[in-house]
Amino acid sequence: MKIVETIAEVRKEVKEWRKQGLSVGLVPTMGFLHEGHQSLIERASRENDRVVVSDFVNPVQFGPGEDLASYPRDLARDAAVCEAAGADLIFHPSPEEMYFPDFSTYVNMESLSEELCGKTRPTHFRGVCTVVSKLFHITAPDRAYFGQKDAQQLAIIKRMARDLNFDIEIVGCPIVREADGLAKSSRNTYLSPEERQAALVLSQAVALGQSMAEQGEKDAEKIVSAMKELIAKEPMARIDYVQAVDGVSMSPVREMKAPVLVAMAVYIGKTRLIDNFIYEG
Ligand code: PAJ
Repeated sequence: MKIVETIAEVRKEVKEWRKQGLSVGLVPTMGFLHEGHQSLIERASRENDRVVVSDFVNPVQFGPGEDLASYPRDLARDAAVCEAAGADLIFHPSPEEMYFPDFSTYVNMESLSEELCGKTRPTHFRGVCTVVSKLFHITAPDRAYFGQKDAQQLAIIKRMARDLNFDIEIVGCPIVREADGLAKSSRNTYLSPEERQAALVLSQAVALGQSMAEQGEKDAEKIVSAMKELIAKEPMARIDYVQAVDGVSMSPVREMKAPVLVAMAVYIGKTRLIDNFIYEG
């Protein structure tokens, strides 16, 4: 496995693979890899001849006052995870390699970005779509892998690939959780032991909402209210949002008519965590 820092080196590698007729999978990440990322890389390595993992904390998707500076970074550890999971190339560019000083072209999605995380993080998905488009152009993969953990991001990337005619299959992968239910996240490292315990309220609310939906509750508002009530019982938790939206359009729904995405963002202390489930009917 190779680690490269420049766009030119990635292109050279991929060109070589293409000449040999090999297929390429891309797993975009911001590094500090955990078993969630690992599951994406392993799947990519099963389904493609070669796998590129991008490891880049993308400044453009962070808003003012967010955790860009403190976002955890550890390339050596990431390299070990990538190697074990079957990656062939890590692309680890500097911000300067990715963005010219006078960079001025963004990919902005007009729909799907208003609700859920888009409300609290108004420029976030513009930054995600821009960097993912760049990574798609740089690596020209056959398939790209994204986690259901970031359900809105996955829906947005699928729409972007369709709208902008990227000839890339977007593959969604299930949420990987800790043994006690907490969804794996690079941001879990911010949690104190007490906060780590309190953070269980997210997956508990997901389990509650999911079981209500599976038992036939059709009123989305009832499900959301029950989840909010459960979270409100945890003194360290502060709800950003709990919302039920259409699984494709991401617009709010009142009725549990599949597919429905029920998603939440909750602050545990200063750390903002997300979780969700999809009701498929
Ligand atoms: P990052 O948060 O590092 O996540 C990279 C990928 O791993 C995303 O597709 C995310 O959904 C997936 N992932 C994270 N935790 C997961 C879990 N517990 N189970 C399954 N998949 C999980 O998402 C980003 O980076 C960035 O926005 C990026 C797409 C790289 C653009 O900068």
